[in-house]
Amino acid sequence: MKTVIYYFTGTGNSLAVTRDLVQEIGGDVEAIPIMKLLHQETIAVDADIAGVVYPAWLHHIPPMVEEFIRKALIKSTYIFAVCLFAVKPYNSIFNLNSLLEQKGRKLDAGFSIAMGGKYILLKDLTFSEDENSKRFVQEKVKVKEIAKCIKKRESVGIEGQYDESDKDISEKLIYAHRNVYKVVEKFRQTDDCDMCGICVDVCPRDNLKLTQNKLTWGENCDYCLACLHWCPKSAIQNGEITPKSRRHHHPDISISDIIAQK
Ligand SMILES: Cc1cc2nc3c(=O)[nH]c(=O)nc-3n(C[C@H](O)[C@H](O)[C@H](O)COP(=O)(O)O)c2cc1C
Ligand code: SF4
Ligand code: SF4
Repeated sequence: MKTVIYYFTGTGNSLAVTRDLVQEIGGDVEAIPIMKLLHQETIAVDADIAGVVYPAWLHHIPPMVEEFIRKALIKSTYIFAVCLFAVKPYNSIFNLNSLLEQKGRKLDAGFSIAMGGKYILLKDLTFSEDENSKRFVQEKVKVKEIAKCIKKRESVGIEGQYDESDKDISEKLIYAHRNVYKVVEKFRQTDDCDMCGICVDVCPRDNLKLTQNKLTWGENCDYCLACLHWCPKSAIQNGEITPKSRRHHHPDISISDIIAQK
């Protein structure tokens, strides 16, 4: 019985959970980064068990995960998803399930796990080291439960309830980040930058350029905030909140792990 877990991560939480799942499920299990597959027109997903691990994104699923689901030709007989969140997954997993339903498939199981926060654009939604440590301990416990369920291929459905009142919020949030808050225009490089190029290398969309000591951000940004959080000098800012906010990345994940996902 083969299991393949497809993951996307900005700050490492989804990769840490993926690795824990790989270990707990054991046997014939493989982890594949979604970013390595997106150049394909269609993506064959034919392991017996297929899973997706990703971060909640504006009450929805990140654009790269959505692109993956749209391109996936799924033959697997059991499908699961794990959504990592800081505050609440909202309808994220239900939205992912709707995409699958458009292809005549559905999730057999959908789980969510509270992890470190990385949203710092309009509010600082990161946590203290103590809070993160608690979450990382609870994550290991929850992953064990999830792995048991997956190994037995239990059809437990999606955790939590669909929130009708949250239905259209993600569209509004995406619109506001693009057109009102204008995230892309607000990125800036500070004098602390030492031109190391890490931000360029970790961007999953290859959206940053460093020429003549100057960083420029293109339009192909999915607000994963990898560039901002992985900068060793905290030399990337966006708007007024980020200069006062913490930087986050999962302690077990390295810059090279992030670069290797694309
Ligand atoms: C643009 C953006 C949107 C986010 N939206 C949500 C959200 O709707 N709900 C939530 O709880 N966390 C949200 N987060 C936080 C991440 O889902 C959370 O920090 C996750 O653990 C990050 O996982 P990663 O390290 O694999 O990227 C958001 C973060 C960003 C940057
Ligand atoms: S990661 Fe930080 S220090 Fe390195 S080039 Fe980018 S902004 Fe400059
Ligand atoms: S530019 Fe930064 S926030 Fe945008 S996709 Fe690249 S790493 Fe993520």
